Amino acid sequence: MNFKEDYARYLQRVEDELARLCRTCPSPEPLRSAMEYSLLAGGKRIRPVMLLAACEAFGGSVEEALPFACALEMIHTYSLIHDDMPEMDDDDLRRGKPTNHKVYGQGMALLAGDGLLSWAFETMLAGAGASEKHLHAMRALARAAGVSGMVSGQCRDLEQKPENGEEELYRLCAEKTGALLSGAAEAGAAVAGADEATRLRMRRYGAALGVSFQIKDDLLDIEGDAALLGKATHMDEQRGKMTYPHLLGLDRAKRVMEEQTALALDLLGTDAPFLTELTRRLLKRDH
Ligand code: IPE
Ligand code: IPE
Ligand code: MG
Ligand code: MG
Ligand code: MG
Repeated sequence: MNFKEDYARYLQRVEDELARLCRTCPSPEPLRSAMEYSLLAGGKRIRPVMLLAACEAFGGSVEEALPFACALEMIHTYSLIHDDMPEMDDDDLRRGKPTNHKVYGQGMALLAGDGLLSWAFETMLAGAGASEKHLHAMRALARAAGVSGMVSGQCRDLEQKPENGEEELYRLCAEKTGALLSGAAEAGAAVAGADEATRLRMRRYGAALGVSFQIKDDLLDIEGDAALLGKATHMDEQRGKMTYPHLLGLDRAKRVMEEQTALALDLLGTDAPFLTELTRRLLKRDH
């Protein structure tokens, strides 16, 4: 396994397919441009790369997994557009560019998010047959996106209930960020035809990795370089956000991050060397 080569190979497939989908998008202007603006703005593409890698790890093909990978990146991008809006985190910079609502206005940013979410399901349905394994993958992504997944976590983030302690903080991170990473790992395994126990294990792997990933995001907000991150730093503190570093301090936050990465690696076992390496690297990322 050559990690960098594999990452570049997965990334290229995702970028090419997202660009192709954007060229075929039938929405009127400026909705089409608003969706493309955020979808093709770069970003690490960790979720679709994970999905493709999980599929290959269990014997499936990148080709078959690609619609699901692109759908997941659409869902993630929609979550970022809405997350940045004044009613939520009120951020001006994302992926090194002005946030969607700064360019297209709040109404259009709202619609760009709505559009990307429904387009994600259209993309999956267009790319998938009615086989059981594809239904499992769609179920995984629907669960990850929705009322018990990312949206639920974003609700906890808005409501801010620090009095509910560390358990609330864990659920907040596991849902708002862990859910889409779980969806990536589970859906990738599902497309490959993995059995139920494996799919569940991959879901749990994604949740643990997601908590670790969010703590790292929170640490980068404190210690990171805004130019590398492509978004402003020190925003969580300004907004009084309930994060691990804020609630437990830097040292304990780092310890939980390392514990969750260790748990993720444990759940992964020896099944997927690329994902093992990705999991390790995400702990040390600078953007
Ligand atoms: C940012 O996600 C939002 C979080 C869940 C922390 P990423 O760090 O994956 O952002 P992009 O996709 O690379 O821009
Ligand atoms: C991201 O959390 C959660 C989402 C589901 C979009 P943050 O609000 O910390 O992400 P950034 O820092 O804005 O990327
Ligand atoms: Mg947020
Ligand atoms: Mg935010
Ligand atoms: Mg953040």
